[in-house]
Amino acid sequence: MQPVYTAPTQTVPLLPLRLLIAFFRDPLRMLLQLAHQYGDVFSFQVGKQRIIVLNHPDAIRELLVVQHEHIRKGDGVMQRDNVLGRGLATNDGPFYKKQRRLVQPAFHRQRLTGYAQTMVEAALQQAWTWCDGTTIDMVQEMPHLTLEIVAKTLFNADMGEETRVIEEGLPVTLEEFRKNALSLGALLGKDLLRRLPFPINIRSKRACARMDQVIARMIDEHRQKGDDQGDLLSMLLLAQDEEGHGMSDRQLRDEVMTLMIAGHETVAFTLIWTWYLLAVNPEAKAKVQLEVDRVLSGRAATFDDLPHLDYTRRVIMETMRLYPPVWIMDRRTLSDLTLAGISIPAGARVVVSQYVVHHDPRFYPDPDRFDPDRWTPERQASRPKFAYFPFGGGPRICIGESFALTECILLLATLSQHWQIELSPKACVELQPSVTLRPKYGIEMILHQRGKAPSVANGS
Ligand code: HEM
Repeated sequence: MQPVYTAPTQTVPLLPLRLLIAFFRDPLRMLLQLAHQYGDVFSFQVGKQRIIVLNHPDAIRELLVVQHEHIRKGDGVMQRDNVLGRGLATNDGPFYKKQRRLVQPAFHRQRLTGYAQTMVEAALQQAWTWCDGTTIDMVQEMPHLTLEIVAKTLFNADMGEETRVIEEGLPVTLEEFRKNALSLGALLGKDLLRRLPFPINIRSKRACARMDQVIARMIDEHRQKGDDQGDLLSMLLLAQDEEGHGMSDRQLRDEVMTLMIAGHETVAFTLIWTWYLLAVNPEAKAKVQLEVDRVLSGRAATFDDLPHLDYTRRVIMETMRLYPPVWIMDRRTLSDLTLAGISIPAGARVVVSQYVVHHDPRFYPDPDRFDPDRWTPERQASRPKFAYFPFGGGPRICIGESFALTECILLLATLSQHWQIELSPKACVELQPSVTLRPKYGIEMILHQRGKAPSVANGS
């Protein structure tokens, strides 16, 4: 039995400015240090605002599951509403609940089988473009692949030039978000920063307008065809509420933009960190290759192979423990409430960090060590549920969880079937906790072809 909260709440006596500067300089280190010093539940005051930090899985469960009716999403993600509009991630209240019900069927298990084939085909095509002995930067390669996949599964179209519009546009909007909402300057007011004619704001607006044109065209084409193309957009178009109303074009645009943004970088960075961890843990890499060769025997992977790719799945789980793509989440309390044994006023900000909990030695002995065997069913069952929450939890859990796990496992299996990947001696790997947890300087890796050239299977 795990101990319930080690320490009753403490108010951290740090000067707010010192705290903020430390946070913006090195948030991961500061959060770990504060957890070590002040325990499972503590709070501090910044101006009029009370910020509560929860570091214990039971407290996080209470926040996200038990008390979910008394909280709303925090300001972090809500500041993306200029790009995401009222898509799922930035929506709230009854309208959010209705939208979640409408979007959910697009992620049902039977739809995943079709998406899985698209994922494997895209990975095989990527495998074709690689050349033996060359050095690649995974931070270029993986987002390109996952964007192709998200575009294909959303629109069932080979978009060519249009994918480029999105591929160029998304990073610009993410950079604008990082600069305006996640910086010390944001304390001046993100809206003020956004209105100023900084080059990044102008570029972001233009990129957004170009992406909107592509999305509008896709919606239009799908509306004209009218039938189910097997893709996500078809499901969004077919969805109807209790009164038989579908989504407006504006709402469709917001949901599509949200799925593209939420579903592309997160998966890409999980894979990037996986390649890195396998390169520095050759024993694990050899085990993945053995499993993949045994299960697939040279053919292309399918959705039905997933239960047999168990070690590959553990590698992905362990990667998301060490490097959770979403490393922090925040919430606002809607009313006064008691949570984890403390009274929290309405309007307080509550912060939880996947990175901190996933590195807690009470749940993960020797927490910095990469050990996929932490994910055997027995060892997993010995930990509280919220000792691991890369996809969040409660009613707002990531809608793309199964999609993402399917994609990560199938891409890792397919690419490992044909390529052995080594870390370049020139690689310099450092964490950058931005919107997602990424390597600051990219990760250069060297490709070695395994066996004969890959062939695209599954009738494609
Ligand atoms: C490894 C990959 C992924 C990770 C780690 C991840 C993580 C998360 C987390 C932590 C949240 C909850 C945020 C919060 O509660 O504040 C979330 C929400 C969301 N994710 Fe993911 N995600 C991943 C992949 C995907 C994919 C592939 C899609 C879609 C194709 C997606 C779509 C969404 C959406 C729409 C939401 C908002 C859900 C809601 O509020 O109802 N995600 N994701």
